[in-house]
Amino acid sequence: MSDSTAARSTALFDRACHVMPGGNTRTSVWHSPHPPYAASGAGCRLTDVDGNVYLDFLNNYTSMIHGHANPVVAEAVRKQLEIGTCFAMPTESEIELAELLCGRAPGFEQIRFTNSGSEAVMMALKAARAHTGKPKIAKCEGAYHGSYDFAEVSLDSAPESWGNADPNSVAYSAGTPRSVLDEVIIIPFNRPEESEKILAAHADELACVLVDPMPNRAGLMPATTEYLQMLRRFTTANDMLLVFDEVISFRLGYGGAQGEFGVTPDLTSLAKIIGGGFPIGAVAGAAEVMKVFDPRQGKPLAPHGGTFNANPISMVAGKAAMELLTPEEFERINGLGARARDGVAKAFADAGVDGQVTGAGSLLRIHMTNVPLVDYRSARATAAQSAALTSVVDYMHTNGVLLAETGLCAISTAMGEAEIDEFIDIFAAALTSTGQPRHAAE
Ligand SMILES: Cc1ncc(COP(=O)(O)O)c(C=O)c1O
Repeated sequence: MSDSTAARSTALFDRACHVMPGGNTRTSVWHSPHPPYAASGAGCRLTDVDGNVYLDFLNNYTSMIHGHANPVVAEAVRKQLEIGTCFAMPTESEIELAELLCGRAPGFEQIRFTNSGSEAVMMALKAARAHTGKPKIAKCEGAYHGSYDFAEVSLDSAPESWGNADPNSVAYSAGTPRSVLDEVIIIPFNRPEESEKILAAHADELACVLVDPMPNRAGLMPATTEYLQMLRRFTTANDMLLVFDEVISFRLGYGGAQGEFGVTPDLTSLAKIIGGGFPIGAVAGAAEVMKVFDPRQGKPLAPHGGTFNANPISMVAGKAAMELLTPEEFERINGLGARARDGVAKAFADAGVDGQVTGAGSLLRIHMTNVPLVDYRSARATAAQSAALTSVVDYMHTNGVLLAETGLCAISTAMGEAEIDEFIDIFAAALTSTGQPRHAAE
């Protein structure tokens, strides 16, 4: 965004810097030299405070599956606003959203709400420890699961710490205690043999394996069926739980990624789309495990409070949003996803530029490399690839398309084929206008 079209955002940023560190309260919306400030959104378009309009392919990091200001969701929220927004009593609205979600995936026998995906992951891991009586967790290198200390380990493990050995536990946030790193075992995503060997060496102490079936930060490559089946078999055989993080991947289909892959975990963390645009998270799973939260016999094994858990605004918005997501609507937006992925691949080929696209369903991620992408290490961009992607993404922002700096894009139900084609046209122009090197003639 050039400064001439960002005067109001610049002024807001200057003001913000006085009261927030770096003017920022959410690392993922940082954009140098400062982000544009949003003014409003309608359907698939977002307008910033300087009047610039963007075709929104980020959708608040995949959560706004219906785009902005969906009238059905807005009406449900409006009605609830008039009769109270939260009480120190449960409401029928939480039962309704719970029933809806438990009806969508066979593994969701019971569910419990939180306010974010981070909390949902945290409660899933605590439930796994409480249920098994074992302390450690295993997770995949490079996978993001929110900001719980244990879930953050090895999120951005850099080549300097790789060596030739198995993935190791590396702190993400400065000051992470050694004791946290010692409790987290890191496995390589989509590498079943290596992962099984590592898990076997710690089986007696592992409460669970936490895996995102299509981890965005590790590259947005879908897990192979072989990988998920190995994890399912191994965890069952070794008295540990299989925990899926479907905070993003639940948008892959009516029954989430687990429905698409045909693998049922013991617990699942959810968030984003299930809140209809309001703060939410949830842990769902087998009743036998979920009973660690049951207070009927006194203090539960895993006590869990939360002032805004299951607040009626998030519940009614989530229900309205999820009801709009019929199997037919998933089929339609997943078809738009395929159209977008095909278009990106064709644009790379037409421009003769190294690159590829990963993802599935209504999600895609752009990579500026031809190297086959399997796991976090193969998908981790080099400095040159990052610089190339930044110039493409900046071009797209300047020309009215919003996507993540990592190349992540999410489609909303507010889009049709015309918006996908608009996105592809601007992406193709970005490849040719930003001076990307062409491959040598064959
Ligand atoms: C896979 C995954 N898990 C957990 C989280 C954390 O969710 P929240 O931002 O709602 O805390 C995210 C957020 O992007 C995520 O992508």
